[in-house]
Amino acid sequence: MCRPKVIGENDKVRTVNGIRPYIFFDNAASTPALVAVFEKLKEFIPYYSNVERGIGYKSFVSTEMFEKAREKVHSFLGATEEHEVIFVKNTTEGVNKLARKLKEFIGDGKVLTTEMEHHSNLLPWKKHYDTEVIPVNKEGRVDLNLIEEALRKANGKIKLVAITGASNVTGFVNPIYEISEIAHKYGALFSVDGAQLVPHKKVDMSRGIDFLSFSAHKFYAPFGSGALVGKKDILGKGEPESVGGGTVKFVSLEEVIWADLPEKEESGTPVITGAIALMAAIEEFEKWGMDKLEDMESRLHRKLYETLSSLDGIEILGGKREKEDFPVISFVPRKVSPYILSSVLSFEYGIGVRTGCFCAQPYVKKLLKVTAEESDQIKKSMMSGLLPEKGAIRASPSFYNTEDEIETLKQGIEDALSRDKFNYTYDSHLKAFVPENFKFTLPF
Ligand SMILES: Cc1ncc(COP(=O)(O)O)c(C=O)c1O
Repeated sequence: MCRPKVIGENDKVRTVNGIRPYIFFDNAASTPALVAVFEKLKEFIPYYSNVERGIGYKSFVSTEMFEKAREKVHSFLGATEEHEVIFVKNTTEGVNKLARKLKEFIGDGKVLTTEMEHHSNLLPWKKHYDTEVIPVNKEGRVDLNLIEEALRKANGKIKLVAITGASNVTGFVNPIYEISEIAHKYGALFSVDGAQLVPHKKVDMSRGIDFLSFSAHKFYAPFGSGALVGKKDILGKGEPESVGGGTVKFVSLEEVIWADLPEKEESGTPVITGAIALMAAIEEFEKWGMDKLEDMESRLHRKLYETLSSLDGIEILGGKREKEDFPVISFVPRKVSPYILSSVLSFEYGIGVRTGCFCAQPYVKKLLKVTAEESDQIKKSMMSGLLPEKGAIRASPSFYNTEDEIETLKQGIEDALSRDKFNYTYDSHLKAFVPENFKFTLPF
């Protein structure tokens, strides 16, 4: 089978230099939809109906498809009989739900996490629990010895280790199965933020992963769904995290009897089309082979790293890269603002990237070696609505991107770095620098 096709792969955009092919290097934020996903939705939509309790042909079809999607997510992640799949809208909702569901289990115990985390796998733990954050080492990697040491010292007080499977800043992949063994050795549960891991690497939850959250919009199915997959005995305990329609077996004005999982934790009408879109994406990657996806991304990773490393005027965040890391690389131009450079890439070369701290401010500040005073200054700038003085550019190609596109990225960076002056002004609506005299138009 040929590689899966992506909607809009050959799209062109208007730039200062005329119409150019659009090069999308912001896949770590969200991926475009697969053609197969869109086709499946077109096939399904005529049958769309609410799920579970409807009596009618279309309700039966919708319920069947929705439950097949649940089974597909379960088998794709190597989940076991002990795990349940709960559809949510994204990773952030999955982690927040889990944090609230673990109240009884963690109590006044502690959560252990790392400095590498996206805010979505940091703030929910800090909000609810005493949270210890393990610093990353000078390469920007998680040090397993520090995790073990923290667990040993905590003497059973750490009840959960919550770690990202892969970083959205450096593309570093964490050894989750080893970390799971360490967590379990000290009696802690283990939760993985799978937002970046699941779209790039085959995951096997049967190898000691108690909980995992991920988002379909990062997995070529951007139709509003995600999943929290986790231990039934824990997720099924107590009251539902959000109550209302769908979460009950019996209600009177005096009494409520809660439904069983998964309905109990999917309050209201679930993300039916989103779940079916996610199933279609998984089916497509299973047909093609996750190993092929990994091979292609590994080649692109090598090319991107070699290309960016060959450029004098930029610094790549994080240390040496390993074979298992995936193609997400953040870098800082030495003499030009990252916000200007990314605008040149966009408006002159038709390349889409991301700029800033990528919702991982503690990690990015550590990698940028931001001092406490600089951090205060950044805070002041951000509070006054200004762009922070520090930030990086992130390029995250995916399996459907090409080595030629990486060459174009190189040309764009070299061109921008060779200039003394930029005729760009800040547009607060677009939140980007825009070339003077360039009329930006939207298609809708
Ligand atoms: C590592 C990581 N965790 C969590 C999230 C949050 O994902 P979502 O916005 O889909 O909730 C992201 C999004 O970029 C991410 O990269």
